[in-house]
Amino acid sequence: MHNAVIAPSILSADMSKLGEETKSVLAAGADFVHVDVMDNHYVPNLTFGPIVVKALRNFGIVAPLDVHLMIKPVDRIIPEFAEAGADYITFHPEASENIEHTLELIRQCECKPGLVFNPATPLDILDHILDKIDIVLLMSVNPGFGGQSFIESVLDKLRHAREIIDKSKYDIRLEIDGGVKIDNIRKIAEAGADTFVAGSAIFGTDNYGSTITMMREQIALANN
Ligand code: DX5
Ligand code: ZN
Repeated sequence: MHNAVIAPSILSADMSKLGEETKSVLAAGADFVHVDVMDNHYVPNLTFGPIVVKALRNFGIVAPLDVHLMIKPVDRIIPEFAEAGADYITFHPEASENIEHTLELIRQCECKPGLVFNPATPLDILDHILDKIDIVLLMSVNPGFGGQSFIESVLDKLRHAREIIDKSKYDIRLEIDGGVKIDNIRKIAEAGADTFVAGSAIFGTDNYGSTITMMREQIALANN
C-alpha cells in the first residue's frame, strides 16, 4: 500500500485569500492540494477553472495538484488544466463519452489519470481500465458541496476497490472524498484508502497543523 496522503480540498478554504490558504495548509503538513472543479451542469455548483490552477502555480505552490473534475463534457478542457499545472486529473465516468479516450487524453497531457465513482456508481468498469489509471477516487458524499456527512456504505466499496487494486499488478492510489474527519479517518484507512481528501474538517479548524497531525495519528493506528 502507498504512504498516506492528506489532500485538503480548497473548496472549503477562504476564497478571498486562496493562495495564502493553500500555502498555510501545505506548511501545516498537507501532501497534495485537492481542487474541486464544478460546472453548474454535472453538479449544481460552480468553482474553479484552469486560470485558478495557473494562479496557484504562479503564487509558488509546488505541491501536487489533484484536480477533481465534476464537469460535463470533460475532454475539451483537460489540456488547459494540464497546461495550467495539474498533476492528477480525475473525472466521473458519467461525464465522458468514451472513458478510455479521456484517460488516454489525460496521459498524453503528461498528467496522472483517475476515475471517480459516485456513491451509487458500481465499480464494474474498474477491471477494464486498471492499466490506464494512477488513482481511483471513491466519493463518500454525492458531489457538489463540501461539509456533507460521510456515507457509511462506501466503506464496503472501499474494501472491494482495495481488493481489486491489490490483485492487479498496478501501482494505483485509492482516494476517498467527502465527509472525512478526525473521528472517522481511522476506519476509512482500515477499509483501504491511502489518499484522504478533507475540506471542512481541515479548513473549518483554527489550527490546520494540529488537525492534520491528528488525522495522521489516526491513520497510523489503522496501519498497525
Ligand atoms: C464534493 C467535493 C469534495 C468536498 C469535500 O463534491 O468533491 O472534495 O469538497 O469536502 P468535505 O471534506 O467538507 O466533505
Ligand atoms: Zn473532490
